[in-house]
Amino acid sequence: MAVIIIYAMCVGYILHALEGTRWFYFFSELNMSLATIATPVMLVRFIWRFFRPSIERPAGISLRKKQMVALVHEVFYLTIFAVLVSGFLMLHKDYHLFGLLHVTRPVDVPVINQFFFTAHRYSCMVLGIILVMHVAAVLKYTVTGKPEILRRML
Ligand code: HEM
Repeated sequence: MAVIIIYAMCVGYILHALEGTRWFYFFSELNMSLATIATPVMLVRFIWRFFRPSIERPAGISLRKKQMVALVHEVFYLTIFAVLVSGFLMLHKDYHLFGLLHVTRPVDVPVINQFFFTAHRYSCMVLGIILVMHVAAVLKYTVTGKPEILRRML
């Protein structure tokens, strides 16, 4: 999931530079196809969180910090879903899943598509910020001798 999200995020912005070239269509459809696959997987992953065996957090972390981590994770999930849902609702044309399967856009109302295009842009920005913070936190805890946090994530 992380790989798909980071890839889609980078390519989503790189697409600006590819506009007008033949690569735009290819990478745009590939991005949408990967994100389409990611959507049900993300849903299963979200539900599985409530049933999987939970791993204890490393000792020595204050209750407030644990609460903050829980809050940030909820915001993280919410933002990912906002990005995915807005991605579908902003579509101004149909696309082909990996060039094979025709997918009809769910909403064909320009004003609604435009609204969700804006929502997609902003939710992508928020997701990008959380992603960078997430990676920075992992690096920090790894460098400062707390690799158990990275192990817990994996
Ligand atoms: C993994 C989740 C996703 C991420 C990280 C992501 C990321 C991005 C980013 C960063 C942009 C550029 C935003 C900007 O110009 O400010 C973008 C554009 C776009 N996204 Fe997404 N997106 C995701 C899911 C989706 C989904 C599910 C769809 C629809 C199936 C979609 C369709 C689009 C479209 C149509 C554009 C405009 C550029 C283009 O034609 O490809 N995205 N996305």
